[in-house]
Amino acid sequence: MCGIVGYLGSSQAAPVLLSSLRCLEYRGYDSAGVAIIENGELAVLKAAGKLSNLESLLNTKQPQATVGIGHTRWATHGVPNDQNAHPHTDCTGTLAIVHNGIIENYQSLRQELSDNGHTFESDTDTEVVSHLIEDEFRGSGDMLTAIRGAVRRLEGAYALGVVSQIFPEKIYAVNHHYSLAVGLGENESYLASDSVAVRQYTNKILRLEQSEIAEISTEGVKLYAFDGTTVNRSPVEVDSNPYVIDKEGHKHFLHKEIHEQPLIMRQTLGKYLHHPEKPVDFSAANGSGHHCGDSSYGVHLSKEDLKKVRRIFIVACGTAYHAGLVGKYVLEELCGIPVEVEIASEMRGRNLLVNGETLTVAVSQSGETADTLAAITEAKSKGSMTLGITNRPDSHLAQITPNLIVTECGIEVSVAATKTFVAQCACFYLLALHIAEELGTIPAARILEIKAQLLAIPALQEQILAREDVVRLKSLRHAEAHDVVFIGRGMNYPIALEGALKLKELSYIHASGYAAGELKHGPIAVLDRNVPVITVLVPGAVYEKTLSNAQEARARNAQMIAVAIDGDEQATKIFDTILRIPPVDEFLSPLLTVIPLQLLSYFIADYLGKDVDQPRNLAKSVTVE
Ligand code: F6R
Repeated sequence: MCGIVGYLGSSQAAPVLLSSLRCLEYRGYDSAGVAIIENGELAVLKAAGKLSNLESLLNTKQPQATVGIGHTRWATHGVPNDQNAHPHTDCTGTLAIVHNGIIENYQSLRQELSDNGHTFESDTDTEVVSHLIEDEFRGSGDMLTAIRGAVRRLEGAYALGVVSQIFPEKIYAVNHHYSLAVGLGENESYLASDSVAVRQYTNKILRLEQSEIAEISTEGVKLYAFDGTTVNRSPVEVDSNPYVIDKEGHKHFLHKEIHEQPLIMRQTLGKYLHHPEKPVDFSAANGSGHHCGDSSYGVHLSKEDLKKVRRIFIVACGTAYHAGLVGKYVLEELCGIPVEVEIASEMRGRNLLVNGETLTVAVSQSGETADTLAAITEAKSKGSMTLGITNRPDSHLAQITPNLIVTECGIEVSVAATKTFVAQCACFYLLALHIAEELGTIPAARILEIKAQLLAIPALQEQILAREDVVRLKSLRHAEAHDVVFIGRGMNYPIALEGALKLKELSYIHASGYAAGELKHGPIAVLDRNVPVITVLVPGAVYEKTLSNAQEARARNAQMIAVAIDGDEQATKIFDTILRIPPVDEFLSPLLTVIPLQLLSYFIADYLGKDVDQPRNLAKSVTVE
């Protein structure tokens, strides 16, 4: 979603802003812009569409400036056009702001400001902020006081970057329940809503916490709380290696990330499970050098804490929600604790029934998903134990959960989640094994067996990826479909949901996932010879029943596709197309069955010429509700 960057120093600001914005492209956006102070005057350059449009504009204008802010916008209020792109100015044209988040009371503020003579040039909620600061500045003549006055009027969660030609050597940054950090270099500073954008320049990061304002100047950074008191916080050092955003020879990031999954599994498993004979170890000391602010992460729930847990409550959105569903099966099976999984946005306006005997688990690749953060915050306020599973130890989620499991995926650039899904599932297996070991809920021999099987998964994933050419050929037979149905049971029901989500978000083909047993309760009505039905079929407790459900689809002349194991002869009789995986225990099968479905979606989307890495309308990090 939206991204904020800024630069203040002695170099040319425009190339730094552009390069920083490039690092945020993966989050999804539909317009971009910068505001710079050139020869003491504010200049705003912005363009709808890809960053290359802004780049052309900057190449033409060649602005000479050493101070500036920039933004990538993902439209919420107002269509994605030049006018609605950030930065937005005030009526005097001397002040510009960039904004992430939503100003919830913008309509009443806009009305009030218009009644007082302000002129608006966009449809955004953002623009009220520049006019509010303008009014407050007229009264006080002090920018910090003006910003503090303006934020007192704002409702919602947001981050802001502000420049003014009246203070040409300063950038102001505001964080209110959002995410914003200042990178500190040698006599220069960088602003970013995601530290990924500044790691190419510095690994010294000063994070703004909730309701704080930073005044950035050539002398350094001063932090203030919204009430005006000074805040003293030292910067932290993050990984010194900048994230490398490189396709490394792959046609798309998505393809690269699908292929990284065995490595990711090895990294995530290797971090927490050193040997089948040893207990799963989530202690902070076992970290690999990441730091979340100045605290390290890990799971700090004692055996006594775990004994108290009567219910586990998982909250997440999208693909992370599907990982949570896999987690439910795994946790219930190994720990004997009832688990509920909720779509985080569905927790709004509801009485969250959690207490001190509940463990609430938030799953979020980005650690910035607004709905997931709201749900875990509420659970915490009601006394629930909380735990986060994320790929970003520097995220907001990491700050608010005392227990954190970090997936070792590196940055996921493609908007569609693939490697992080598999890593999140792996973390649920590890968490369940950890709880089972602590509480003795299953025999030690079974734990040993599962650990050994888990450690063997990466090699099996490699076997699937090695046959991707076959998957490609088979997938393209169905590239012209308009509707695709995915079915699965038990552990593979979430994989049917995930398969459908991947196909629709990448190829824009309508797809739905169902519990296989539900097919006859309604969805079967859509089946005919034009509809491919993709069945996830793995030998085990629900194999025969899944096969029967597939037969129901076959009787309606649907195009029959399966994900099935090598050597499954029954499948050969029923399905026209089989995407093969190596034999695997049903309990661990989601870690394999999802891969052919990711590949199928990828190949179809690429064949159809879709924007594979940045599908239309989607954002990588969904920071609005
Ligand atoms: C789908 C996808 C989304 C995310 C969802 C949650 O491929 O990526 O459905 O899974 O927006 O995002 P995080 O995990 O960052 O909370």
